[in-house]
Amino acid sequence: MGRIAYVNGRFVPHAEAVVHIEDRGYQFADAVYEVWALFDGRLADAEGHFARLERSLSELRIPMPMSRAALTVVLREAVRRNRVREGLLYLQVSRGVAPREHPFPAEDTPPAVVITVSRVDRAASEARAAKGVGVVTTAENRWSRCDIKTVGLLPNVLAKQKAKEAGAVEAWFVDDLGFVTEGGSSNAWIVDGDGVLRTRDTNANILRGVTRLSLLDVIREAGLKVEERPFTPDEARAAKEAFITGAGSLVLPVVSVDGKPVGNGVPGPIATKLRRLYIERAKAHSI
Ligand code: PDD
Repeated sequence: MGRIAYVNGRFVPHAEAVVHIEDRGYQFADAVYEVWALFDGRLADAEGHFARLERSLSELRIPMPMSRAALTVVLREAVRRNRVREGLLYLQVSRGVAPREHPFPAEDTPPAVVITVSRVDRAASEARAAKGVGVVTTAENRWSRCDIKTVGLLPNVLAKQKAKEAGAVEAWFVDDLGFVTEGGSSNAWIVDGDGVLRTRDTNANILRGVTRLSLLDVIREAGLKVEERPFTPDEARAAKEAFITGAGSLVLPVVSVDGKPVGNGVPGPIATKLRRLYIERAKAHSI
């Protein structure tokens, strides 16, 4: 059975799914998105992603395209029609279709909605997590509203391409003060020399990762020490462990930064344990 996409009220074969050339997402990146991990056909951390979607839309004054309840029905239907159990669901909401003028279009312009569902090979993801991944660093060059999850991802695209060309999986942005902000599509963490978990605070210009937030709960429940405090790439290399979090990576051990090993260069026990605990929690909080 082929993949099915949702485009503005219709389920259509993936290969035939198209948007208008004057969609403001296409022309201005005037759109937001969310990505849910799917475990056993259910949307993980559903509440957190809905809350952030509503916030991103409201910060840009794009109306919710439909109620949260209606959207939930559509998202689940998209998963059902694709028969995906383990995967990712992508939702994009743009300000809609209108003649190309920078200011907002007429108020009655309906937002445009696109949903795609893709399969993830969990065995392959687990194998990757067991090996760990490399990250590279790159100068922070994004706009100052990275808390809004917009599709304006060109710096992230370039950063992640740099990572790929270096044989790494993620790029960590480093701000003017020399501190890591976050990854191109994930949040960044270390376990420092004192065994304290550290990740950037959300007053910084970062995305408030839903996985990050849930993992903070998991960490506290596990009785581990955590501080929302910045770290430098040197501190990451000197750390006991490092890892990244996101709907795609879940909790993924980082074993090198700019080609130099973190700790002894293999995934550490804390990241490995947190990955397992996070997945258990995400399954329990899925709809
Ligand atoms: N990215 N930081 C950035 C810049 C991101 O793009 C993402 C997610 C995260 C992690 O957020 P969350 O835990 O809510 O997934 C942090 C998605 C998965 C993507 O762009 O595909």
